[in-house]
Amino acid sequence: MGSIGDQGAYRQAGLTPRGVQRIEWAAEQMPVVTGIRREWEKAEASAKPLQGMRIAACLHVTTETANLMRALVAGGAQVRLAASNPLSTQDDVAAALSEIYGVPTYAMRGESSEEYYEHIQQVLDLEPHITLDDGADLVTTLHEKRPTLIERIRGGAEETTTGVVRLRALAAAGRLRYPMIAVNDADTKHLFDNRYGTGQSTIDGILRATNYLLAGSTFVVIGYGWCGRGVASRARGMGANVVVCEVNPVRALEAVMDGYRVMPLREAASIGDLFVTVTGDLHVLDAEHIAQLKDGAILANAGHFNVEINLEALAAQAVSQREVRENVREYRLADGRRIRVLAEGRLVNLAAAEGHPAAVMDMSFANQALVCAWLARTTPGQLQPGVYPVPEEIDHEVARRKLAAMGVHIDELRPEQVQYLRSFAQGT
Ligand code: ADE
Repeated sequence: MGSIGDQGAYRQAGLTPRGVQRIEWAAEQMPVVTGIRREWEKAEASAKPLQGMRIAACLHVTTETANLMRALVAGGAQVRLAASNPLSTQDDVAAALSEIYGVPTYAMRGESSEEYYEHIQQVLDLEPHITLDDGADLVTTLHEKRPTLIERIRGGAEETTTGVVRLRALAAAGRLRYPMIAVNDADTKHLFDNRYGTGQSTIDGILRATNYLLAGSTFVVIGYGWCGRGVASRARGMGANVVVCEVNPVRALEAVMDGYRVMPLREAASIGDLFVTVTGDLHVLDAEHIAQLKDGAILANAGHFNVEINLEALAAQAVSQREVRENVREYRLADGRRIRVLAEGRLVNLAAAEGHPAAVMDMSFANQALVCAWLARTTPGQLQPGVYPVPEEIDHEVARRKLAAMGVHIDELRPEQVQYLRSFAQGT
């Protein structure tokens, strides 16, 4: 069992060496974040971009996050970390961060909801200048429970679609009190992390939990945003017959032209073998769909919160429940059908697997690191409260660094081409 160490951070010393080994493995596949860390390590204290900054982070506690934390520390910041989901914490990483990398980490896989919020409060005790969030739980806790801390905050960064949606709602209600940078919306984030990261890691989570053969299965993807597109394409790549359910007509049309069958979930419910929700919305898979499911249907969620599958409705229709494999709960319905829910309806890619691969988190977290440095250069009060995009120069810098690390070279426009694009004179 773990113990409480310095500053109350969670410690589990026996796990530390394994955590270090895995963090270093990920570092090798994160050349951009690792490169930024090395540059910042070499800089004199006075030239470190985060010197004197205190950063409170609420992110999934994974090997990839650990490498972001190392970069921030190298940049001169004092950092504390809490989990952004009670089931995504890798305990060996939490131990290594606390013990070796100087980042008190308040997280434990399987923590209760009370512990989860207590840990966020412990991170906020740092009295941060910058906040990092994945899902906006830290920023909402800060606004609701610790408003006196807001005065010294330069700004924050939000990692995920759901968090950005929450922040925009907070801003629209006139209640967001400091500037937030929507890292999710950077091209070098969502076009890669949401699509290829969620695509691969969701399949990874489903397979680790079930060892199910996807070839020939009917695989229903609910939601065709960047994450849904990724999950659908990877499931098809494994030979599944993919059905897409989507409420946005443009996205639904795109799914049709991408070659998928598109239909309402009401129809897909009775033909699917596996269902993955990736919408960010409430009770997408609801009682009426549960009533239609086939015996043995598998339900998984890859959206940020565990609200997409109506588990209360499922429990209400069930006569019994049991754990049939790690991360698989089987609900038996009165008519004998068995419905299998993966990872309690929480993010299946992080709860049943290790989250997105390091090589894709490299770009997301390079954005986070460079956004922190950019925020640290702003003067307090320079930016009004609101949700801001990642500056384009940071987005392009991340892409340039990633291409360089991959050994890929690209062309540049010649001066006359630049000039042509700027002029309207030349026509037919
Ligand atoms: N979100 C999705 N995958 C992740 C990972 N590997 N680390 C941190 N956050 C993530």
